[in-house]
Amino acid sequence: MVRIALITVNINRLFLTGFLFETMKVTRQYSALDRLIIDFDGFLRQAKPAKSPVNRPDPADSVAEMPMDTLMRTLSASLMRVNHAGEVSAQALYQGQGLTARNPQVRQIMKTAALEESDHLVWCQQRLQDLHSHTSYLNPFWYVGSFSFGLIAGLMGDHWSLGFVAETEHQVVRHLDTHLVRLPENDQKSRAILQQMRIDESHHATVAVESGARELPEPVKHLMRFCSSVMTTIASRI
Ligand SMILES: [Fe+2]
Ligand SMILES: [Fe+2]
Repeated sequence: MVRIALITVNINRLFLTGFLFETMKVTRQYSALDRLIIDFDGFLRQAKPAKSPVNRPDPADSVAEMPMDTLMRTLSASLMRVNHAGEVSAQALYQGQGLTARNPQVRQIMKTAALEESDHLVWCQQRLQDLHSHTSYLNPFWYVGSFSFGLIAGLMGDHWSLGFVAETEHQVVRHLDTHLVRLPENDQKSRAILQQMRIDESHHATVAVESGARELPEPVKHLMRFCSSVMTTIASRI
């Protein structure tokens, strides 16, 4: 718990540092390192629900809360914690890829998708709060790991990077399908969120394919599936 508190303090410090960089953006051309810190700041802002800019309404707002017993709530919370961790990773991936993208259009695709992912992040976080549960304690780890993957994917070149996006999003859509089956019948609020996320993720895949995504080799797809299964298993518990 002490370590978690220290991480929180450091995150808050970085949040303030990021604010300074935000004001610098309008007055200067910034370097790759500046952009890295600004992108990291973007995540930190979205990790603080009270200050997060939500671009679209939460799909759960238009759905009535139905009664759920403890077992149902626990199951819903563990599924939504996995999805929240997935959104942390999605933003980190897109930010890493945006930073190393060579073509400005590809960089813009990554930034637009990251913005939509930030909606998902806020919706999942709000739902976890409503379920009286918590986000994954390992979110900083998921973020840093995924950001590194994003940087590497971007460095491989734009077509491979777009291929990585397409494959990631296809896997996310299949993952969401399993969660839509596993969610308790009465948790229509979480269902509404996941359904909108599924539409967005599928759109991200389509945009990547139409922008010139290259098909990834099978071993890479296997490795991606393995990494995501490790993350989903751990994040469902802590
Ligand atoms: Fe997402
Ligand atoms: Fe996505």
